[in-house]
Amino acid sequence: MTEIRVLTDEAQFRAHMSVFRRAMHWSPPSDEQWQVIRPSYEPDRVLAAFDGDEIIGTASSFGSSLVVPGGALVPHSAISRVGVRADYTRRGVLSALMREQLSSLPDPVATLRASEGRIYGRFGYGLAGRWRTVEIDARRAVIPGDLTGRVRMLDQDTADKLLPELHEAIGLTRPGQIGRWAGWWARQRDRKTEAENSVTVVHSGPDGDDGFLTYKVTTTKDFDHELSIEDFVWANDDAWRDLWIYVSRLDLVDKIEIDLALDEPVSWLFEDPRVVRTKDVFDEIWLRLVDVPRMLSARTYGVADPVVIEVRDELLPANDGRYRVSPDGAERVEEPADLTIPVDLLGAVYLGDTTFSQLAATRRIEGTRLADADALFAVPQKPFCGTFF
Ligand SMILES: CC(C)(COP(=O)(O)OP(=O)(O)OC[C@H]1O[C@@H](n2cnc3c(N)ncnc32)[C@H](O)[C@@H]1OP(=O)(O)O)[C@@H](O)C(=O)NCCC(=O)NCCS
Repeated sequence: MTEIRVLTDEAQFRAHMSVFRRAMHWSPPSDEQWQVIRPSYEPDRVLAAFDGDEIIGTASSFGSSLVVPGGALVPHSAISRVGVRADYTRRGVLSALMREQLSSLPDPVATLRASEGRIYGRFGYGLAGRWRTVEIDARRAVIPGDLTGRVRMLDQDTADKLLPELHEAIGLTRPGQIGRWAGWWARQRDRKTEAENSVTVVHSGPDGDDGFLTYKVTTTKDFDHELSIEDFVWANDDAWRDLWIYVSRLDLVDKIEIDLALDEPVSWLFEDPRVVRTKDVFDEIWLRLVDVPRMLSARTYGVADPVVIEVRDELLPANDGRYRVSPDGAERVEEPADLTIPVDLLGAVYLGDTTFSQLAATRRIEGTRLADADALFAVPQKPFCGTFF
């Protein structure tokens, strides 16, 4: 009989981490790793499934914030460390954990990164944002013009101190971006130590520091140098362009790789746009609307005639109902619905990565007034988070 409990003490947190890591086919944390991971455990946000006294399944969340279309910042749960011990899978353990977690989350929205695409739709998560992985032929990459500001390299200690402050100061603007919590930065520092040769550079413009980039270069057995950009944050176009100039002019580098927003105009930087090649498009943000009325009111809408949307949510029935969405906002109504959508797919259209018309074409939703619904939910920028957790 599976029982779900909220964990409170440190010994249990470590057992929780060991079960999660085993589920991912990784070894339990060493003492050294545990020192780094331990502070990232947030009380009240750690769930475990028990068989008797043994932990057999895990889930947890981190308190953060999320940018929604229109720019509002909404309290957000970043869901992570989900795993079930291999000798207990496919017996409903994850389902029990998800039910308990959803009913107790303190925030109106949750997002996660999925190890597999078939796991989370049934729990109301929709694929809400994707990234593209691009590869740049650095030998042929020419960005015309000069830097407008200055780029300086930081030592690790300075970067550890400066980056969280700079990230906070730059702020969040693109829908899908999330606030980074203290435990995220601690893990990031650890990953950088693992990578050893990770390098951080900071950009400053007329008003001071306004962007940063973390990258690492690996050498292949053919002595090619491949640079991968691990973190790239900027406040304005000059910082963005200057950091690209810096990285594209580094000596010895043959290839640059980065995951970026689908609509980031990186090809237009280069004299020859063909130096930028899209290698892959992959799902990034899986989004769960935990409190549908609050989340529908949190974002802004485009110009179109109002549409009444009926939402179905099997796990959180308080969300069931009809919502009239107009350029002025969203409200619950009792009017007949123009279209009906399950909560996972409302999550998929919420940030603007996909549209009602696209979902209707695949027969995933039914209804009329699709063009108006598309126009209401249309966004000027594709969603992208850029913060892995
Ligand atoms: C993914 C995982 C957590 C699922 O746990 P579980 O306890 O087996 O899940 P449940 O038994 O509650 O399954 C619920 C439903 O989802 C389905 N399902 C679960 N995992 C699935 C998967 N990986 N692929 C396809 N379907 C899956 C089950 O078949 C079941 O369907 P049903 O209700 O129609 O029978 C577990 O397999 C695991 O730990 N995997 C490795 C670690 C991992 O990937 N963690 C997720 C990190 S994002």
